[in-house]
Amino acid sequence: MLIQIITGTTREGRFSERVAGWVFDHLDQRAGTDAEIVDLRDHPLPFFDAPPPAKAPREYATDEVARLGTTLDRADGYIVVTAEYNHGYPAVLKNAMDWTFVEWTRKPISFVGWGNVGGARAIEQLRLVAVEFEMAPLRHAVHILPDTMIAARQTAEQSVFAPLQPRLELLTEDLLWWATALRAGRSSRPS
Ligand SMILES: Cc1cc2nc3c(=O)[nH]c(=O)nc-3n(C[C@H](O)[C@H](O)[C@H](O)COP(=O)(O)O)c2cc1C
Repeated sequence: MLIQIITGTTREGRFSERVAGWVFDHLDQRAGTDAEIVDLRDHPLPFFDAPPPAKAPREYATDEVARLGTTLDRADGYIVVTAEYNHGYPAVLKNAMDWTFVEWTRKPISFVGWGNVGGARAIEQLRLVAVEFEMAPLRHAVHILPDTMIAARQTAEQSVFAPLQPRLELLTEDLLWWATALRAGRSSRPS
């Protein structure tokens, strides 16, 4: 079972790196679950300007797109760690998604967000995007509020996220249930 943690932001000094590390450490401790971070900084892509990937599955325009597509293809489920930029999702995240399509299909996706309302507005919008990708966007999310963000910027200790650990555990349990169920579904009835 492979769960990928996708960093939704790439800017210098980003908080997403910190959150991705916390989520990765949590998943990495679980027997039977492999976790890996997909850092969008490692997948620099131009603004999308190609034929719709939904209509040309896995026909990658460039080696860079192929590298992202084949990476996403390997996962059974995703945890997107995302900021909220101007009450929406970060453009770099949506751009990466737009370069791909079938790689995400019939897989579950969960969210960890941060900001003034814990990234809730970005996460709600991303759930709608996920439906278009024929994914299963899940209910349980982790919302990191400003007090925790401020505290986390003052220490490298993961314990700063301890009050949120039960929420992350709930998210993980739910994601793994769906990842198991949908993997079985994909292999018994390939689309
Ligand atoms: C372009 C931009 C827009 C932002 N808009 C919001 C917003 O709408 N809501 C919010 O809670 N925080 C907003 N913030 C503050 C972010 O929550 C904060 O900068 C956070 O660290 C961003 O995540 P990142 O560091 O991974 O980029 C914004 C930040 C940036 C850079």
